[in-house]
Amino acid sequence: MKRKEIFTLALALCMGAGAFAESPLKGSQRTFSRPGVRYMQKVRPAEEGRTVLATDLPDGLVWNSKRRLVEGHINRPGEYSYNIIVGGADTVPVHLTVSDSLLLPTPMMGWLSWNVVQNRVSEDVMRETALAIRDKGLLDAGYKYIGIDDDWHCGAERPPSGYPAPDSIRFPNGMKPVGDFLHSLGLKFGIYSTAALHTCDVQFGSYGHEDVDARAYADWGVDFLKYDYCHVNSIGIGDYRERRVGKYVYKRMAEAIERCGRPIILYMCEWGTNSPWEWAHEVDSPVWRATHDHRDGWNGYPADNIANVRHTGIGVRQALYIMRDIWPYTGVNHFNDADMLCAGIHGRGDGSNALLDGVSFDGTNFVKDGKIYEGLNADEAATEFAMWCMWSSPLFLTFDIRNEIAPADMALLTNPEMIAINQDAMGQAAEFVSELDGVQLWVKDLENGDIAVAVVNMNDVPADYEFSAGLTDAIDSGIQYKVRNLIDRKDEAPFTCRMRLQIPPHGTRLLRFSK
Ligand code: GLA
Repeated sequence: MKRKEIFTLALALCMGAGAFAESPLKGSQRTFSRPGVRYMQKVRPAEEGRTVLATDLPDGLVWNSKRRLVEGHINRPGEYSYNIIVGGADTVPVHLTVSDSLLLPTPMMGWLSWNVVQNRVSEDVMRETALAIRDKGLLDAGYKYIGIDDDWHCGAERPPSGYPAPDSIRFPNGMKPVGDFLHSLGLKFGIYSTAALHTCDVQFGSYGHEDVDARAYADWGVDFLKYDYCHVNSIGIGDYRERRVGKYVYKRMAEAIERCGRPIILYMCEWGTNSPWEWAHEVDSPVWRATHDHRDGWNGYPADNIANVRHTGIGVRQALYIMRDIWPYTGVNHFNDADMLCAGIHGRGDGSNALLDGVSFDGTNFVKDGKIYEGLNADEAATEFAMWCMWSSPLFLTFDIRNEIAPADMALLTNPEMIAINQDAMGQAAEFVSELDGVQLWVKDLENGDIAVAVVNMNDVPADYEFSAGLTDAIDSGIQYKVRNLIDRKDEAPFTCRMRLQIPPHGTRLLRFSK
């Protein structure tokens, strides 16, 4: 079945249930898996306390009532469906595609030019960055999606020909040689545009020019398009906070991509405004930004705002509160993105220092407490990387890779045991379990049956936390587990029923439990 047909079928199924506006299910009705790879969908009701039950499951899948999840293996590619009954009354259909040719079986890992390079992006920068990514071992670690963000354009208006011309000084040979060069190194090539007349940094956008742009991207060898959402109000089709507006502009580009003949990943960047995790599949998008821009610090701005954090500065702390509510929507080929990683920037990003608690610009530097601001500290960077891995968020670096990379940054960002959690074939996002005295507990089921556990200290002081089997249904009490500390890459004492964890302020313990 072609992608378009799958999309239409899914849409018909979902519309039949009157699904999107007020779904009784907190989770996706459109899921994906690969043949023979273990599948899981944790089923949670939109309204806490309502019962859930899965019925009419295809062969290979079973309902685990204790843990409220559908799991199993389907070996044959195809289209499958089952039903979720919420509160004993509401039936919600789920459509599952099992395929070996999904656009994005695991989250993207790569680099985006935004936070540090910004409007200095050029062919030279891209070539040098690509070589550095290969030569410094980042490609071997998995970072292969290399994207040009905003400001590659020739200006605020496109040329009269309509062709999306890049800046002719910074890209003297056009874009195709950039794509060719990245591909020659085994990398994937990404470009950026906006679903409006202007991008966020006021270059020309793609609205009304979707076909010419998608065709140009295909000619350039583009593999993914980061498609932003600034200035949509000025199109004159409604408020950007209306879901129909978001769906409409993204669908226009999805259809242009379909027509352009190259499988380009549509990476939506509407910052979670219209809950894209509920409808991304309708525009064929396997990955979307779930938050507003993530900044290089623990606490965004306003600092005390965790209830409505969509349009504020997003520190690591705010990301933790946003993901707490939307983790059930992530799955294979369907990823919530918590935005570019700030680890490695150390306060040197033009685009990542604003909107942080206590950080201001003195005309020359960003400062905090009278000192030059240095961004995330080591524990906060470890929490950021650990939780992006736990959420199956894309891992996009955005510091200047061409400069010397501090050994501690390199060790963290290429840590293979943490990356394995991110790239796990089952594509789950960690489930938020609890927050007690400012310590959050998250668990993630892995394809081989192991369980990853993250304990995050949200406090500004050290925490002494007792983790016990009774805290989560993912760990069986009475069984002895091997425990691996993934950040420090060392074995811990075997676990039977409880363990004590000392966690620094804003730090995380990331543990892998194996039977
Ligand atoms: C928006 C996006 C950022 C970045 C900038 C570029 O703010 O959310 O990730 O792409 O635009 O202008």
